[in-house]
Amino acid sequence: MSEWTPDTWRRFEARQMPTYPDAQALEAAEAALRALPPLVFAGEARNLTSDLARVSRGEAFLLQGGDCAESFAEFSATHIRDTLRAILQMAVVLTYAGSMPVVKVGRMAGQFAKPRSADMERQGDIELPSYRGDIINALDFNAEARIPDPNRMVEAYHRATATLNLLRAFVKGGYANLQQVHRWNLDFVKDSPQAERYEDIANRIEDAIAFMRACGVSSDRVAAMRETDFYTSHEALLLPYEEAMTRVDSTSGDWVDTSAHLLWIGARTDQLEGAQVQFVRGIINPLGLKCSPSTTPDDLLKLIDILNPENTPGRLTLYSRMGAGNVEGNLKPLITAVQREGRHVVWACDPMHGNTVKSDSGYKTRRFEDLVSEVREFFATCRAEGVYPGGLHIEMTGQDVTECTGGQYELKDGDLSERYHTHCDPRLNASQALELSYQVAEMLKV
Ligand code: PEP
Ligand code: CO
Repeated sequence: MSEWTPDTWRRFEARQMPTYPDAQALEAAEAALRALPPLVFAGEARNLTSDLARVSRGEAFLLQGGDCAESFAEFSATHIRDTLRAILQMAVVLTYAGSMPVVKVGRMAGQFAKPRSADMERQGDIELPSYRGDIINALDFNAEARIPDPNRMVEAYHRATATLNLLRAFVKGGYANLQQVHRWNLDFVKDSPQAERYEDIANRIEDAIAFMRACGVSSDRVAAMRETDFYTSHEALLLPYEEAMTRVDSTSGDWVDTSAHLLWIGARTDQLEGAQVQFVRGIINPLGLKCSPSTTPDDLLKLIDILNPENTPGRLTLYSRMGAGNVEGNLKPLITAVQREGRHVVWACDPMHGNTVKSDSGYKTRRFEDLVSEVREFFATCRAEGVYPGGLHIEMTGQDVTECTGGQYELKDGDLSERYHTHCDPRLNASQALELSYQVAEMLKV
């Protein structure tokens, strides 16, 4: 493989990236980013790789979730706390009911850039460049807003930093203490059909904690009971940003992309000779790769050669995103090829991106039942092929939004307009996310 430095991606075709009209402003923003401190350290990225290696051996489960696109407008302490809380609740359900340690990864603190299927968006007679995420341009439908602005990279960096700072305070400062398990019940989830189920699990955990305390094991003595590890991730899409955040780890000499712990390659930028693939191959962060119905076994093996040439367990997570009804036919050949070649990967399921539909009222939505079906098919296919179904990757929020239909509140198409806030794809609300975690916990038990 040819030599790699953080800027060698520039020799390859870069899809899904903006053309900045002002080259000088772009250079200035890149220089500003290069001078700013890292968000994460190499040691943390390595810890996540070893946690994911545990997942690849079937000893833990990966839960990755958060906004489709984080937005500057929704940026607030409440939003961050509520998303974290929903993920912690899901993790408790999976840990307790599925008897599995859960590796928690947020689509948070940097998930700002979006690939789009169309370069242009039409509304009525007006056609404008598509919105590409707050790190690139603005959602408002006017020509000015849609111009890519490199300063947004610096603004995104500062929001990512503040987000990560708050996440670290929450998970290390006592909020993730298992004794708080009752307090994580979000106000609106409290009235939902599954609140009772959650309270039941919370009660049983409390009993277990009381028992352990009586035996001399308590959260003031055992760190694992009062704090947890929480990692961040986003799609490796906007390479000027990723390049500027990539630094040498002084102890090992390795390159680490300090913008997040894990970076993934999206379905639209998985070309072998594409800039995104050629960029991430050189960083030591654990990587993800989306596998869609258009991923062939041959391409997948070539991508694995590039992304994980040393076959390191935990280095690479594959997210199957096939769509309900399409899992077995598409995933089975991929698993067979990976197994045949003896490659170590984590198999995870993204039940969101293959199940996006347009509702009758015109909203982009997803049906809860379809998501459950896809996860069920994923578990069945993995088990039939003899691999461990190791994780779940979802778009969700702690807010009470109405973006996906179904779930125990039985959200209907007509309800979507009430609180449809996403900047990109429809997310599960906290209640639907919690409900999904119960279903997955049942699947894990078998
Ligand atoms: C995403 O995860 O937001 C995304 C765009 O997914 P995919 O690349 O699988 O379509
Ligand atoms: Co999405």
